[in-house]
Amino acid sequence: MTDVSLGMPQLPAPDYPADVRARLEADAKEVIARYPDSRSALLPLLHLVQSEEGHVTRTGMRFCADVLGLTTAEVTAVATFYTMYRRKPSGDYQVGVCTNTLCAVMGGDAIFEELKEHLGVGNNETTEDGKVTLEHIECNAACDFAPVVMVNWEFFDNQTPDSAKRLVDDLRAGRQVTPTRGAPLCTYKETARILAGFPDERPGAVEAGGGAGPASLIGLRLARGEAAPATRVVHPRGEAPQERPQPGSEHLSSHDAPQQTSASDPEHSAGPVGEEGE
Ligand code: FES
Repeated sequence: MTDVSLGMPQLPAPDYPADVRARLEADAKEVIARYPDSRSALLPLLHLVQSEEGHVTRTGMRFCADVLGLTTAEVTAVATFYTMYRRKPSGDYQVGVCTNTLCAVMGGDAIFEELKEHLGVGNNETTEDGKVTLEHIECNAACDFAPVVMVNWEFFDNQTPDSAKRLVDDLRAGRQVTPTRGAPLCTYKETARILAGFPDERPGAVEAGGGAGPASLIGLRLARGEAAPATRVVHPRGEAPQERPQPGSEHLSSHDAPQQTSASDPEHSAGPVGEEGE
C-alpha cells in the first residue's frame, strides 16, 4: 500500500529501537496494571508514546496495538479522534487560544490574530525555532475566565493580546512560565508523560497544582444558594486589584450573570440570585 500524500510505502510501521521499546514496555506494563481490562489503558498509552516522540507516530500506534492486543486500525481510530493526540511533529509548547463563542467575543479572536502575526505562523503551525505551536482550541470549561489561552493544557486566564504575546515571548526565550492555576510549565513531552499517569516529580509541582479559581468558586457558592463574599481579584491586564462586593448590587465582573432579575419581573426581583429559595 502507498501513502498517496507522501509517495512512500505505508506498512508496516517501523518498530522502536530495542532499548526504547524495552523502556516503554516497562512503563506500559505499569499503566496496564491499573485497569481491569487492558484495552482501557489505550488513552494513557497514547500519551506515553506521545511523550517519547512529541506526537503519536505510526510506530507509537503499532506499539500500543502490540502491548494491548489490538489492531493498529483500532488504535488509529482512537488516536485520530481525540485532539489531545498530535499527529505531526510540533513545538515544545502547544499554545491554544480558545475561540469558542464566549472567549471569542471577549477577545479570543483578537488574541489569535495577534499571535499569528507576532509568531509568523498559522493555525496548527510551529515557529521556526520549534518552540511554539499555535492552534485554535475549543471551549475548555473555563469560560468564567474568558478569554482563555492554554499552554500544554494549563490555563492562562483573562488574557489580552499583549499578555499573550508576552507569554509566547517568554516561552521562546526559555524563561520559566507559570500558569494562572498550577505548577510552572514543562514541555509537551513532559506533560504527555504526566498525562500518561506518571508522577510529576519536580519539587513543589504537586503542591502548586491548580484548582478552581475565584470566579468558579463564587459561581459554585451562588449555585448552592450561598451568598458570595467580597473577593480580591487580580487581573493580568495590569489593573489594580479590586475588592469585589457582595452580590446583590452589581455584577461580579463585566461578564458574570446578573445578580438580580429584571425589575420588570417583580416576582423574582427581590434579592440576589444566591438568596432565592431561602
Ligand atoms: S468559551 Fe473559552 S473556555 Fe469556554
